[in-house]
Amino acid sequence: MDKPRVLVTRAIFPQVIANLAQHFEVTSNQADELWSPPQLIEQLQGKQGVFTTGSERIDAALLAACPELRICANMAVGYNNFDLEAMTAAGVLGTNAPDVLTETTADFAFALLLATARRISESEHFLRAGQWSRWSYDLFAGAEVHGSTLGILGMGRIGQAIARRGAHGFGMKVIYHNRSPLDEATQQRCAARYVSLQGLLREADHLVLVLPYSGASHHIIGAAELAQMKPTATLVNIARGGIVDDAALAAALQNRIIAAAGLDVFEGEPKVHPDLLRVPNVVLTPHIGSATLATRQAMAQLAVDNLVGFLVHGKPVTPLNEVRAVPDK
Ligand code: GLV
Repeated sequence: MDKPRVLVTRAIFPQVIANLAQHFEVTSNQADELWSPPQLIEQLQGKQGVFTTGSERIDAALLAACPELRICANMAVGYNNFDLEAMTAAGVLGTNAPDVLTETTADFAFALLLATARRISESEHFLRAGQWSRWSYDLFAGAEVHGSTLGILGMGRIGQAIARRGAHGFGMKVIYHNRSPLDEATQQRCAARYVSLQGLLREADHLVLVLPYSGASHHIIGAAELAQMKPTATLVNIARGGIVDDAALAAALQNRIIAAAGLDVFEGEPKVHPDLLRVPNVVLTPHIGSATLATRQAMAQLAVDNLVGFLVHGKPVTPLNEVRAVPDK
């Protein structure tokens, strides 16, 4: 029997290609060319599976043009690049890569929070520019992290891992807002208290965004929300671009409506709003929240396991929707 055909949309660890090749006829993009949507459709012709990285849009138009496609395996926990409803209607399975990145991403949230509150990037630029001539009492004096109030918007697995670090590592008071409150035992483990969105904005010294992107969370943090935050507050976005109105944030940073921001994700990335590049009180990183080698390998392997699980054994590991198992399709 012919092996199923699988496309890998971007360059990836060679071991991943080797693992896939044990089960599939693999077309890979190790040259890491950036494909337009029509080019992606062309590459997908005759493929039953696709390994995506979180930025390839899988929508009704693509699905209609790729009738043999049965599974899209995202090497990302976020899957806002999938139109899941259209995929279900087309009988195409979506899978993501949860859990394996939780602790690493929570570490990164703290790295970005600390860099932002303690003005690490700003002060390094100053030093590298040869501007450091003497000690002074308020040189890059930032905001306290330990003992402050940590606000978390979105309390899934990563939010909870951030809460545990804040409460148990930094002695922070942790408050959160989520679609619904956590159960009592989980809340206690995180030493976190549920508050309204307005309460979160008003009370947090440091606000970390870690909620999924959707129509409902688009620009959930805009000018009006920033105006409710403390002028000494920091904002950290490790979730997705589009959750924050980047233009409004740049204006708020410039006008010191809030003290500082740390951003790992951007609206329309890899483009960054030009005003954000001009303000000094923002730390900018290129979507590296889960980027340790071990975690990226684990995420990629989970996507492989989903492709093998579904296309070979009829049982994916981390499915996002329900479709009929492959042999019956
Ligand atoms: C990264 O942004 C992910 O969703 O895994």
